[in-house]
Amino acid sequence: MANRETFGSNKVAILAMAGSAIGLGNIWRFPYMVGQNGGAAFIIIYIISCFLLAVPILMSETIIGHRTHQNTFGAMKTLAPGTKWSLLGLLAVVSPFIIMSYYSVVGGWSIDFLYKSVFEGFKIADGQLQGTSFGSFISSTWGPIICHTIFSLLCVVIVSAGVKSGIEKFNKICMPVLFILIIFILIFSVSLPGASAGIDYMLKPDFSKITGPIVASAVGQSFFSLSLGVGTILIYSSYIKSKENILNSGIGTTAFDLMFALLAGFAVMPAVFAAGIEPGAGPGLIFETLPFIFAKMGFGIPWISSVVAIFFFLAVVFAALTSAISMYEAIVAYFVEEKNMSRRKATLLVFFGTWFLGLFCSLSFGPLSHIKIMNLSIFDFCDKFTSNFLMTIGGLLFVIFAGWKMKKQEVWEEFTGSGKYKFNCKIFNAFYFILKFIAPIGVGVVFLSNFI
Ligand code: TRP
Repeated sequence: MANRETFGSNKVAILAMAGSAIGLGNIWRFPYMVGQNGGAAFIIIYIISCFLLAVPILMSETIIGHRTHQNTFGAMKTLAPGTKWSLLGLLAVVSPFIIMSYYSVVGGWSIDFLYKSVFEGFKIADGQLQGTSFGSFISSTWGPIICHTIFSLLCVVIVSAGVKSGIEKFNKICMPVLFILIIFILIFSVSLPGASAGIDYMLKPDFSKITGPIVASAVGQSFFSLSLGVGTILIYSSYIKSKENILNSGIGTTAFDLMFALLAGFAVMPAVFAAGIEPGAGPGLIFETLPFIFAKMGFGIPWISSVVAIFFFLAVVFAALTSAISMYEAIVAYFVEEKNMSRRKATLLVFFGTWFLGLFCSLSFGPLSHIKIMNLSIFDFCDKFTSNFLMTIGGLLFVIFAGWKMKKQEVWEEFTGSGKYKFNCKIFNAFYFILKFIAPIGVGVVFLSNFI
């Protein structure tokens, strides 16, 4: 494909891939998963899973995308022509579609909180807890739908501008700002009286709490956080120039994502403890408890609380957008390259599809809460079905493809830049062993644990 766009440099590619990886998964999901699953011990398993299972999947997707410079479907078709592997390429169009529909609902909640911090302030100074208002907001009909729509439209604006002038530019601005914002909140958080209990919770592991499901959650969280198994990493790597060192992109992305999850954990957990809030509060953790904490940060002066809250929710919205656009891109590239659609038309198609499905996810907290799929609400079903099932099966198939279907020589060429990168050559055998044996078995066991 002669005139296909590429990222300007490998640094920018890492920024964009880190932008995909760092999102609601780090700020919203990671802290409440840590809180629900026992703190430090969960974090240790999470870190091991990142390097032993997630990195091999990430590198498999990167190898496939970078070798073919095509969308997920085209890539599989090129590498394994005439086989059923192209179905994996299609799975990587369907999965981001489902994830996107509920992801943009949560993105919408953050937009509402941002709006409230700017225009209404949080009225907790008079002792009113924000939790009740969060519950009534998400279960209402129009507010969350309007915010879900705004969030989706923002994605359309960025993605339809293209890889370089849309995606690359947005990430270049947002990612550095995001790191500064989270460090700012972290400093505030750890300096609160009573914060040390939260720091201990993050640092002192109690392995007696670890059970099978907790291990599966930690592994699932590492896949979600690194955007794995559904083609978003594949599509971004397909925009990395041929001459670049993809091991750097893979490790850089993982390192940034892990660092950001830990920063978010240390920003949220000490504040949760300082405020005497239950760490296992679940998905509402940051939305329900943080506004209360912001009030404390303001030392009783409302505008200080508002400024901190604005910064925080701005960070959440930025992070969510840089992730959401990667899901859009995986689907858009398919329609542009395989169906000859214009980028704008493809983007609008993705918008209408994810927006429509998202309506049901949003309404499942209120008017449609009585509808249950396998005992779960529509939102929970989309979340569980994708993170426990589609992402693990996708991840498993990508490592099997790179480890067993592709020739060792092909993997070597990609991994080492055909011998150009000496360090990569040195560690290739160890990497290949993990790719071929450890990762498929590990991911396979996690996948099967869904059925026990
Ligand atoms: N990783 C992102 C986050 O942490 C979300 C995300 C983007 C994602 N692309 C994905 C999750 C693909 C699963 C699959 O918020």
